[in-house]
Amino acid sequence: MSLPDDIARQLVEAARQAREYAYAPYSGFRVGAALLAEDGAVYTGCNVENSSYGLTCCAERTALFSAVANGDHHFLGIAIAADGAQVPPCGACRQVLSEFAPDLPVILAGPGDEHRALSLTNLLPEPFSSDFLHTGESPSDPTS
Ligand code: THU
Repeated sequence: MSLPDDIARQLVEAARQAREYAYAPYSGFRVGAALLAEDGAVYTGCNVENSSYGLTCCAERTALFSAVANGDHHFLGIAIAADGAQVPPCGACRQVLSEFAPDLPVILAGPGDEHRALSLTNLLPEPFSSDFLHTGESPSDPTS
């Protein structure tokens, strides 16, 4: 599953705009993300750092949490735009995205016009999931 190129480009542009809001005074590394929901809504996020460094939230999770806080649980793709080279999502963000869309298309924006499309399935091949919480029972789908 991948996104049409024109949609991918629009998402990349939204991620680049979101990167402008990054709060990254400690690392100086700005990241923006744009998450496309099945209903057509686009939720953006940026990294939000903290003087207590470990409390920093990545751009991808900021976007996802914004979507969920607005009642959206179904997604078609995410674009990520960092400063400089193409940057894949960190392990924590892979796991959190996987909760809602294990095969989510992930578009990495480059410094120029180019971008690269990956799948979360490849980035996180064996995610922990709610299935493991219900061994012996029929797993329910908590995201529906
Ligand atoms: N960061 C993200 O926002 N997303 C990633 O996928 C990787 C890292 C942020 C966290 C931190 O504010 C800065 O980049 C440096 O790690």
